[in-house]
Amino acid sequence: MKFVKVSKGKRIVFLLLITGFAGIVTINICSWISTTKQQPTIHRTYLKTRTRCPQKFPLLILVLSSPLNFQQRRVIRQTWGTDYAMDKTWKTMFLLGQAKHPMEAKYLIEEAIIYGDLIQGLQTDSYSNLTLKTEMGLEWAVKYCDFDFLLKTDDDVFVNTYKLVDYLRRPQTSKRQLYLGNVAQRQKARRRGKWALSLQEYQSNFLPKFCLGPGYVLSKDLVSRFVEIFDVKKPLKLEDVYMGMLAERIGVTPSNHSGFITYSEEKHCTYNSKWIVVHEASPYCIMKLFDIALEERFRQVGKGTQVNLLQR
Ligand SMILES: *[C@@H]1O[C@H](CO)[C@@H](O)[C@H](O)[C@H]1NC(C)=O
Ligand SMILES: *[C@@H]1O[C@H](CO)[C@@H](O)[C@H](O)[C@H]1NC(C)=O
Repeated sequence: MKFVKVSKGKRIVFLLLITGFAGIVTINICSWISTTKQQPTIHRTYLKTRTRCPQKFPLLILVLSSPLNFQQRRVIRQTWGTDYAMDKTWKTMFLLGQAKHPMEAKYLIEEAIIYGDLIQGLQTDSYSNLTLKTEMGLEWAVKYCDFDFLLKTDDDVFVNTYKLVDYLRRPQTSKRQLYLGNVAQRQKARRRGKWALSLQEYQSNFLPKFCLGPGYVLSKDLVSRFVEIFDVKKPLKLEDVYMGMLAERIGVTPSNHSGFITYSEEKHCTYNSKWIVVHEASPYCIMKLFDIALEERFRQVGKGTQVNLLQR
């Protein structure tokens, strides 16, 4: 009797172990099946990249660039594009289409590995595809990143990121329905030149109100709404005008900010502490303006004291 009892107990323990083990295996198999069965998110635009943001960024910056502009991207990363703090306030990503030559494509693959900040699409990289690139950037932002505001800019622009963050953090700045930049005066649709729109592309004589392309800010709710209606409004090749059309469609008026200096006639690279976005700026000019911006930042915190950390 005793012997049997012991053996029964052992058997139960054994059975428990087996069922426990089987349970663990089942759980693992189930989760494995469910992850393999899970459909990858379907993209509505030409977006290819599926990298996720590792944290929430109050400000996400998307820079329209093109495969050959390595130098511009490098300078932006070394200057206004990077928030070096551990808990980052802003993150800069570059929007690119497909490279035309296999060698360029190889460089891009390496660049993407080294910096991890490229968002790529399947469309050919060309001026007429800027809208497709912007669309894919907004879709990426909505699907793979958490943020409060998005700045869309170009790689020939200086952004005073510190000032922009200060401005967005003010309690008066609206956190929703924000479409901010240099609002173009009511313009007639041009039928000739670089920004020409054929009657087929755009029928109306006047353009909607829109923020000029080199730099505009959208609050997150607007980015989501825009992505939702990409299919409703046929893309126009002028990316900034298209954003204006989307805003008009959902009844949002762009707000004008005098610190967004775009298509500036002044080409001599001057600094003004009220400016947030300066277009256009060469890589050299971006470095120069960034140095001055940093210097100003330090001077502000050291008000009254004689700090001149950046003097060379
Ligand atoms: C992109 O631009 C090129 C050249 O302008 C054009 O041939 C192509 O159809 C466009 N669209 C896509 C999706 O690549
Ligand atoms: C927006 O402000 C700029 C100056 O900061 C001005 O040139 C432009 O005309 C303004 N746009 C509108 C629509 O008022």
